[in-house]
Amino acid sequence: MAPKSNHSSRNGSPLRPAFAGTSSYTPDTMSVADELHPVIHAGRVALVTGAASGIGRAAAIEFAKLGLKVAIADISEDALTEVGKTLSAIVGEPNVLVVPTDVSKLDQVRALRDRVYEAWGEVAVLMNNAGIGLKGTSWEGLDNWHKIFEVNVFGVINVQHTFVPSMLHQENPAMVITTGSKQGITNPPGNAAYNASKAAVKSLTEGLAHELRERSGSNMTAHLFIPGWTFTSLTSPTPSNPSTKPAGAWTPEETVLYMLDKVRSTGDFYILVPDNETKREVDQLRIMWGAADVAEGRPALSRWDANWKALYEEYVREGLAQLE
Ligand SMILES: NC(=O)c1ccc[n+]([C@@H]2O[C@H](COP(=O)([O-])OP(=O)(O)OC[C@H]3O[C@@H](n4cnc5c(N)ncnc54)[C@H](O)[C@@H]3O)[C@@H](O)[C@H]2O)c1
Repeated sequence: MAPKSNHSSRNGSPLRPAFAGTSSYTPDTMSVADELHPVIHAGRVALVTGAASGIGRAAAIEFAKLGLKVAIADISEDALTEVGKTLSAIVGEPNVLVVPTDVSKLDQVRALRDRVYEAWGEVAVLMNNAGIGLKGTSWEGLDNWHKIFEVNVFGVINVQHTFVPSMLHQENPAMVITTGSKQGITNPPGNAAYNASKAAVKSLTEGLAHELRERSGSNMTAHLFIPGWTFTSLTSPTPSNPSTKPAGAWTPEETVLYMLDKVRSTGDFYILVPDNETKREVDQLRIMWGAADVAEGRPALSRWDANWKALYEEYVREGLAQLE
């Protein structure tokens, strides 16, 4: 059952307080769903992978603020423990499970499932989010290709294959939110390995959504969470990068709040998140241009082909004029 709702009340949303201090995404621009969502509500269980930092950490904190029990998993044990303390302060220690886990190792993922089900007997929200951004180009960085696929693709597959069968047996509705990337859709040159891994995540999550929808009596939905540019260790991993958020990026909190708002209010499958540099209309045009490469037989990645640059720019100009 799709968690559709027409709730438009902005009063008393548990999301509101978290906006304090953010400059680029304010509650005035959103339509907050109320607290009666069948999946994301107090007392139910959220499991977040990659929860020790960045987007996963922010999501775990928001779930705790909404009163969910939260299980967090990450390969980075110390940072995960710290997040566990933060969550305990919000929702109480009995409602937090900290389970160091390498999602690329199936036995560890199975142990994670056993811990969560022994403790709470369900998972309402599975946020399949852990990811890495090592670089691999088209003929260099083979080791990195393997590492990226082990985490970004097989990590997601391990978690999905381990948890979905258990979630299907639950009486109450449940959802899987899998973190993809715009890079897995528009394929910008620069990190072929990461792009390919996220293209796989898009594909497998679309497949999951379809199979859940077709399954008779299914009480589960899947969602592809597509963050914009978000200031995390993944996008700022070295000391040479700025230690303060670049103006164009959103904070992890902003990205997560936007995602939660959309998933709760619309139940959409594709949750395409903007940032301060790229608005939704521009993303739409970029995605449509990429699809038209295939449909119209243009060169691969024509957006970055010198012979097509002028036409692409004209397309965006005209498209924006129509969309806005
Ligand atoms: N930051 C962005 O702009 C952006 C944009 C699009 C998509 N994403 C995606 O968002 C997700 C979260 O990334 P982030 O930006 O918060 O980066 P991050 O580095 O802050 O968080 C990723 C987390 O995943 C954990 N992790 C790495 N390998 C793991 C493994 N084998 N098992 C368990 N945990 C592991 C890391 O320890 C880290 O805590 C990733 O899937 C990333 O690809 C990020």
